[in-house]
Amino acid sequence: MVRKMRLGSSSLEVPVLAVGCMRMNKIEKPEAERFIQTALEEGVNFFDHADIYGHGECEEIFAEAIHMNDDVRENIILQSKCGIRKGMFDFSKEHILESVDGILHRLRTDYLDVLLLHRPDALVEPEEVAETFDILKSSGKVRNFGVSNHNPMQIQLLQKYVKVPLVANQLQLSITNSTMIKSGLNVNMENDAAVNRDGSVLDYCRLNDITIQPWSPFQYGFFEGVFLGNEKFPELNQRIDEIAAKYEVTNTTIAIAWLLRHPANMQPIIGTMNTERLKDCCKATTIHLTREEWYSIYRAAGNILP
Ligand SMILES: NC(=O)c1ccc[n+]([C@@H]2O[C@H](COP(=O)([O-])OP(=O)(O)OC[C@H]3O[C@@H](n4cnc5c(N)ncnc54)[C@H](OP(=O)(O)O)[C@@H]3O)[C@@H](O)[C@H]2O)c1
Repeated sequence: MVRKMRLGSSSLEVPVLAVGCMRMNKIEKPEAERFIQTALEEGVNFFDHADIYGHGECEEIFAEAIHMNDDVRENIILQSKCGIRKGMFDFSKEHILESVDGILHRLRTDYLDVLLLHRPDALVEPEEVAETFDILKSSGKVRNFGVSNHNPMQIQLLQKYVKVPLVANQLQLSITNSTMIKSGLNVNMENDAAVNRDGSVLDYCRLNDITIQPWSPFQYGFFEGVFLGNEKFPELNQRIDEIAAKYEVTNTTIAIAWLLRHPANMQPIIGTMNTERLKDCCKATTIHLTREEWYSIYRAAGNILP
């Protein structure tokens, strides 16, 4: 069983890995049932959704495949996201409330453990978000709140009005997309790596007990493909394979172990729908890479230390 941790400053005990359900509409129902069953057997009972995944289909398939009922619901942790609409972002009260009702209906539940605002809305009215969260909390529809793809100032702006602490920030992070780590290693340098693209979100989240949930932990670029076994990354794959051989695990395990080794206690959201790969990800929770191994993977991804 994978180990547990506290999600942000909430009282939620969560597995250190979460299953991302964005690709659940790409598999057949029996496969989805098997996959979810394996996740539960491994102790990965945290499922990440969004209202837009498969236009709602992923949430529906999930509820059906897990055979949702009160007993099942009690033993899992459900997170979903809203705020992305066609051609815009929308954190209005009306849209958030409507989205949550749709999510609960599709997931066949009457509450979410965590609701995240999916992507910053330029027209956000933080007072309105606070009022909306109050309604969702007091009605029991949502127990905890967080954000996704937000920088520190955007979080502070929301937090000025939202009464409950925001507990998670879901951000793109993998060995090949590590800008939030890179800029912190190149402070004040005249190189590209020093460019701070996120307002030091990694340090901010650590300082404020906000759990970072890395999304797309195996992808390079913006959904361009998987870096593991990819000829575009020969040096990186060679190094990962060497370390995988040492620990007698797969390269998949090492890619996740690299994220888990960071002391920020992140909770990677893994997107595989393959049960064997899921088990490999879970093995990562038992591996503690050495400092030398962690940095050698970082360097093999093409990063230069100052
Ligand atoms: N907040 C946001 O803005 C945001 C954005 C994107 C995603 N997310 C969340 O993050 C989760 C994960 O995102 P993701 O699915 O892009 O992440 P991912 O885990 O990096 O990618 C999963 C995909 O890569 C494939 N894959 C993984 N390892 C592989 C390997 N060694 N060889 C070949 N294929 C491999 C998987 O195929 P198999 O299924 O065959 O293993 C699957 O298609 C999503 O489900 C969603 O919940 C959030």
